[in-house]
Amino acid sequence: MDEVSTTALGMARVRAAESERPDGLFDDPWAARFCAAAPDQVPGGERTPLSMSFAFHAIIRTRFYDDYLLTAGCRQVVLLAAGLDSRAYRLDWPAGVSLYELDLPKVLAFKESVLADAEPRCTRAVVPADFRTDWAKALQDNGFRPQEPTAWLAEGLLIYLTPQDADRLLTTVTTLSAQSSRIAFERGDRSYQDQATNSPSMQRYSALWKGGLDRPASQWLTDHGWRPTEHDLGPVAASYGRPLRKEASSGFVTASRGASR
Ligand SMILES: C[S@@+](CC[C@H](N)C(=O)[O-])C[C@H]1O[C@@H](n2cnc3c(N)ncnc32)[C@H](O)[C@@H]1O
Repeated sequence: MDEVSTTALGMARVRAAESERPDGLFDDPWAARFCAAAPDQVPGGERTPLSMSFAFHAIIRTRFYDDYLLTAGCRQVVLLAAGLDSRAYRLDWPAGVSLYELDLPKVLAFKESVLADAEPRCTRAVVPADFRTDWAKALQDNGFRPQEPTAWLAEGLLIYLTPQDADRLLTTVTTLSAQSSRIAFERGDRSYQDQATNSPSMQRYSALWKGGLDRPASQWLTDHGWRPTEHDLGPVAASYGRPLRKEASSGFVTASRGASR
């Protein structure tokens, strides 16, 4: 697996722990299996305040994006950098959903080996792709229809791309997005990134960061014809019964194309 893809195992570790809680915000039974299949490559596990706030954010965002995808109202769903996301298997999708998972080839090959006996709850296509190349052709060759509304998710991705690659990725997404399409991703949080860059417990992740979008997410989206809505971490977490102990400036952005949501 490429070094950057081991971050997907870090997410699986956090999701496996959350799934053991009786009051878990989601149940991801595959997360523990991914970790068990590659124990030497799973990053994280330290219990520093910063790594715990990273895990907290990952849990809230997982549930937030679960809800976003299930209420987006699109039958076509694209997970950009799906990593070891098992939403195709664990969410109660409406009938007729086609879901596309894109990520680097090695992480998807690993994922397929672990999920070999599992049954997706929607029509699922796996599309090996590198977002620094022409990934749109691979997506369309696998049946994606740009004329239909799509719910896009770029979870935990943009920071691993340079500003140019992040801009190019979202520009391509925009050209593939029919009216009423939706998109969601994290709003960058510079102060958190600066702290993490200087923290030994977060080094495994932060050493791979390349900056992501070089302007605020909502501004980028507005400039490209999307209607963004910001979601601060605090109120989102509180709405799930997990109020923040310390204020945070991070959050998420969702946006729609053309529609007034
Ligand atoms: C932190 S993980 C997030 C995975 C998943 N979205 C989740 O939340 O569980 C980051 C993912 O980005 C993928 N990634 C990073 N750079 C990429 C690129 N240039 N093309 C495709 N995928 C990439 C990695 O392979 C990894 O799976």
